Amino acid sequence: MDYRLGLIGYPVEHSLSPWIHESFMKQIAVKGSYTKYEIPLSDDFSKRIANIKKEGLQGFNVTVPYKQRIIPFLDKIDSIAGEIGAVNTVSFEDGLWVGYNTDGFGYLRSLEMEFPALMENTAIRILLVGAGGACRGIYHTFANAGFRNVDIANRTIEKAEDITKKHEKLNTKVFTLEEAAERTDQYDLIIQTSSVGMKPGIEEKIIQLDRLKKGAIVSDIVYQPIKTAFLKQAKESGAAIHFGHTMLLYQAQYAFEIWTGKRVPIDDMDKKLKLLLEG
Ligand code: ATR
Repeated sequence: MDYRLGLIGYPVEHSLSPWIHESFMKQIAVKGSYTKYEIPLSDDFSKRIANIKKEGLQGFNVTVPYKQRIIPFLDKIDSIAGEIGAVNTVSFEDGLWVGYNTDGFGYLRSLEMEFPALMENTAIRILLVGAGGACRGIYHTFANAGFRNVDIANRTIEKAEDITKKHEKLNTKVFTLEEAAERTDQYDLIIQTSSVGMKPGIEEKIIQLDRLKKGAIVSDIVYQPIKTAFLKQAKESGAAIHFGHTMLLYQAQYAFEIWTGKRVPIDDMDKKLKLLLEG
């Protein structure tokens, strides 16, 4: 069977998803296509979606700015996507359009591949920095996976508080960025979830990381550049570091698995994507 997959969003011109999914198809020797459907804000969204649904796709990815806007056009939403309030993967199943969110799960899987021992211990102390859509996905996935100590720091406190609402039992502490910078040495895992540090603002760091716990792991979801100023400082302060482009691969791996039932190993795609990003 030929797979027919795609992506909706705006802009999608430079998206890496076609490269990733076409590599998956090649790896398991199946034919197929992954089409970019660019939907400018001026377009009639419901008309475009109705037309895309008629194209006979097994599913499609959803990126900015439509991860929330797509929801009313779906027949069913899985529980984690419902909790996060955003969908990045849509699958056509038994005549129904079903929405998933693979971002948080993909992120956790990418961490688990590199740091399996860390991820077995749900008592580790985790700090998420930034409180946008990516933080929401990662926070809920950690919470559902049983992690008990997940705090959030953000410039706007209310946004961080809002994310914690559906998991009141977790007792998440919420901090300003200034407060968080004073307590970085209390965490086993620190994850930068905002866009701060992304090209062209590559010198920017959301917080300073000059004091870290021994054995700490620091992660950044920004992947352009691969080694952000945040990760550079973490490394200089003795931490192990985890790069953002791996999240991209594993969230795609999970989406592909939802569509096709096949989990394609990442193997050297990590290195290839790194080269691609570094130009
Ligand atoms: P998304 O589209 O993923 O929801 P977003 O709304 O752009 O992302 O926000 C991402 C995060 O980056 C937010 O936590 C934002 O902080 P605020 O909630 O205070 O807006 C954070 N962020 C973006 N630029 C920032 C900056 N220069 N300094 C600190 N935080 C920043």
